[in-house]
Amino acid sequence: MSSGGRSHTAPTSDRKPVSLPRLGEMKANGEPIVMVTAYDYPSATVAEAAGVDIVLVGDSAANVVLGYPGTEMVSMDEMVILGKAVRRGLKTPLMVGDMPMGSYEASNEEAIRSAQRLIKETGCQAVKLEAGGVIVERARAIVNSGIPVMGHVGLTPQTATALGGYKAQGKSAKSAIKQLEDALALQSVGCFAIVIEAVPSAITDEIVKKLEVPTIGIGAGRGTSGQVLVFHDLLGITTGHMAKFVKRYASVHETMVAAVKQYGQEVRTRHFPEPEHVYSVEPAELDEFRRYLSEESLASAKGWEWEPLP
Ligand code: KIV
Repeated sequence: MSSGGRSHTAPTSDRKPVSLPRLGEMKANGEPIVMVTAYDYPSATVAEAAGVDIVLVGDSAANVVLGYPGTEMVSMDEMVILGKAVRRGLKTPLMVGDMPMGSYEASNEEAIRSAQRLIKETGCQAVKLEAGGVIVERARAIVNSGIPVMGHVGLTPQTATALGGYKAQGKSAKSAIKQLEDALALQSVGCFAIVIEAVPSAITDEIVKKLEVPTIGIGAGRGTSGQVLVFHDLLGITTGHMAKFVKRYASVHETMVAAVKQYGQEVRTRHFPEPEHVYSVEPAELDEFRRYLSEESLASAKGWEWEPLP
């Protein structure tokens, strides 16, 4: 049935929900952690059915679903709407909510309030925030308030302008030291995992050796405990320039365009709808309706009242 009939694909997974200790266990056992972003109910049900371990309601939603030019633009209100939809489609993966730019930098109090809002209103189980420096103190405050925090080092899109653009980080020894120091600081304040984005794999491998918490890489090579990709990038829903680290596993944009084109063509040539898409009516009801139409037009011409059949 179509969504017009209010039917949805129910999450089918019967796996155990992924917990924070389970992630630690996976790292210890060398089992790769699979993380993907999701921004709505259908993408969440896909992540659930595919059996991923972590779903991030990423602020990349700004670009990939809201059409903003950068992640700086997305608001907490928008993240909450998207997060609530994702929650409805998930049962098993750990759900992490990204803290949008402007929701945590100014003070520890603001960071805690924003993290609490994401947790309470979306039902995510942890939050992610970007960068090191002063942000480490925000991460500490949120962790101390009882909310699990995922850190994010390397290329941090919320501050990409200050980093000189969407560029790989850690390419100089000085920058590599900064990535290591940020990652160690985030670990020391209690972050349960750290995303490493767009860092040369040889540098990542050294950083990972110094960390005890799981690391999730995106453009950081194979040495991390897991990998994350943006849902719309890996499925080929987004088009245009892709970062070097994106692998497209499907061409969904092309499939969708072809399907909508075919629909348009069938509407224009009256091949759609076909008999199986059409409701039927009992012949007697149709006859009575037609009698009404002919008598009603006669009656209105002569000023009579139409009588229904007994
Ligand atoms: O917002 C996002 O999608 C992210 C991932 C790329 C880690 O932060």
